Amino acid sequence: MEKTRGRSRLKRVLIVLGSVVGVLAVVIGGGFAWLWTGADISTVGKVSFSQEMKVPPLAESTVTKDGTRVFDLRMQAGETEFKAGKKTPTWGFNGSYLGPTLRAARGEKVEVRVENTLDEASSVHWHGMHLPAAMDGGPHQEVAAGARWNPYWKIDQPAATLWYHPHPHGATEQHVARGLAGMFLVDDAKSGALALPKTYGVDDLPVIVQDVEFDGNKLDHGHKILRNTGFLGGRTMVNGTLDPYKEVGDRLVRLRLLNASTARIYTFGFDDSREFSLVGTDGGLLERPAGMKRVQLSPGERAEIVVEMRAGERTVLRSYPWEKGDAWEKRFSGGDDSFDVLQLRAAKTLRDSPTLPQRLVESELPEAKDAVRGRYFELKLSGINGKKMDMGRVDETVTQGATEVWTVRNGGDMTHNFHVHDVQFRVVEFDGKPPGAALRGPKDTLAMPIGSTAKIAVRFDGPADPDHPYMYHCHLLAHEDEGMMGQFVVVEKGQQAGTPGGHGGH
Ligand code: C2O
Ligand code: CU
Ligand code: CU
Repeated sequence: MEKTRGRSRLKRVLIVLGSVVGVLAVVIGGGFAWLWTGADISTVGKVSFSQEMKVPPLAESTVTKDGTRVFDLRMQAGETEFKAGKKTPTWGFNGSYLGPTLRAARGEKVEVRVENTLDEASSVHWHGMHLPAAMDGGPHQEVAAGARWNPYWKIDQPAATLWYHPHPHGATEQHVARGLAGMFLVDDAKSGALALPKTYGVDDLPVIVQDVEFDGNKLDHGHKILRNTGFLGGRTMVNGTLDPYKEVGDRLVRLRLLNASTARIYTFGFDDSREFSLVGTDGGLLERPAGMKRVQLSPGERAEIVVEMRAGERTVLRSYPWEKGDAWEKRFSGGDDSFDVLQLRAAKTLRDSPTLPQRLVESELPEAKDAVRGRYFELKLSGINGKKMDMGRVDETVTQGATEVWTVRNGGDMTHNFHVHDVQFRVVEFDGKPPGAALRGPKDTLAMPIGSTAKIAVRFDGPADPDHPYMYHCHLLAHEDEGMMGQFVVVEKGQQAGTPGGHGGH
């Protein structure tokens, strides 16, 4: 008697427990299924292409008596009408969103008079530029609210599509996402003489791609659940234009693609998968054009491509899902997403363009065989080589003029990339193999999928400055802000690293 009563109570308890566990499993499983199926985004076929793509104006400049080209950049808050009649609070340079295109030639001295009219400190970094560390605009050159900063340097690198953006320690993602970014085009005589499309805004188009999310009239930069990668927006803009189209009148059109998103990786191609020619990477032109159908750009990377148009057609620059990556990573890091980015509308009759040259430029990249030493960098969200960024610590000291081979490895937690200030490096090897065409040009930022390893040849041409560090970091900006960054100084042979200050400017 006693025994059976006890047993049936136990049974009842078990049944209740069982159903609680069952309900929990359904709720958790259902919640997960909901997260999973809701995590991929596609705007393919859904974009209206109803707004003409803005082309950032070329920045005005004056040339002083000593031949310095002087630009003015004002960081300011404002409002931008992304959608007709709706005003969105944004930040920009000399305007309410993004900034003008700075343009200068190799050999020129430039000075940029930066004024920060925002109500918080920021900085302006010249991404891809070879310049003295004190002019680099990283976290040590913060410009306080209301303050000015006048960096100057001499341009000494090949023609390239570079860019500028803020780099304040811990707040880079926010400052870039609010709209602070612009292009900096470097010209040189050799590239100028090549038969490449080169009329800015006509057959040579800046294409600054960013993903955005709107919350009413405001921009929403929130990170969604499970998105360790950072902010991922549900739609894209080009040069701050939603639903963009651009009319073109030439047979060959050059697109200077810049991934100015804070976390999203794009795999660009055309909707009919036509082949295009890659002519340049982050830091300049390739030795020869490379035909391809897709080019992947992680945050901060650039590609210059030339596409052939047919009279009267409309073709769409699209971003396709990643080709590689594990299912989880792809789903929650944007790898399954696709976007219709920009529609190109060809005129009924097109001006003919000269045939693309078969040879472009001679490479100026360092060679692995000249390396005097190696270094190793392991990338994890928790830090590079196990260390989080410390403004007061110099992580690496390199000798001016020396070539080194750096081995960069993704530590296996998630996709990252690796950006080095001041230099353009050569990818020597990627996952043990010689680099593919898209990695053969000058690079300053390199996508690093889970588990990947790259060897890069880097040369530090100086000038030496033991007290002012340059940065290397993951350009997924939320990762950078969290401390996935390190500092290096360039010194004369035998010199010791100094002690970098705390926050400069305040
Ligand atoms: Cu584009 Cu350290 O930056
Ligand atoms: Cu940079
Ligand atoms: Cu990262």
